[in-house]
Amino acid sequence: MVTAVSFTLNGTAVAAVAEPAETLLSVLRHRLGDTSPKAGCLQGTCGACTVLLDGEPVLSCLLLADAAEGRRVETVRGLADGPTLHPLQEAFMDRFAAQCGFCTPGMIMAAKALLDRNPNPTREEVIEAISGNVCRCTGYLPIIEAILEAARRLAARR
Ligand code: FES
Ligand code: FES
Repeated sequence: MVTAVSFTLNGTAVAAVAEPAETLLSVLRHRLGDTSPKAGCLQGTCGACTVLLDGEPVLSCLLLADAAEGRRVETVRGLADGPTLHPLQEAFMDRFAAQCGFCTPGMIMAAKALLDRNPNPTREEVIEAISGNVCRCTGYLPIIEAILEAARRLAARR
């Protein structure tokens, strides 16, 4: 039976129908039109679908949509403030941390969760935070540098 699910998506209240076994990723992409979380492996192993649920990174391909009921969902689409990119997005551009870009939304959301709870992470903490996110292009080093750079830029704003 189709059910309704309601939650906050990037600060806006949304509602959508969902099949009983439909994932949050499917609802975001196919019912709400937010294609920023990517459908990669769909098996919980690549991290491309990472979104934040009440501030915690989750694999939206493994989470049933019902799990988001009444909660706060954040995707990379909501990070920019109008034309102004989030420091993580700026740093990913400046450090050439995106090539094909498929992993980037998940990487950035995993990084955002880290910087929200730990504004001054060590390199090792950055590596740990993105350990569930696969990148086939960059070799990871530009991504790690970008996250550390974003931390510095956010600190300079405080
Ligand atoms: S698409 Fe969800 S972990 Fe790969
Ligand atoms: S930039 Fe292509 S998979 Fe990471």
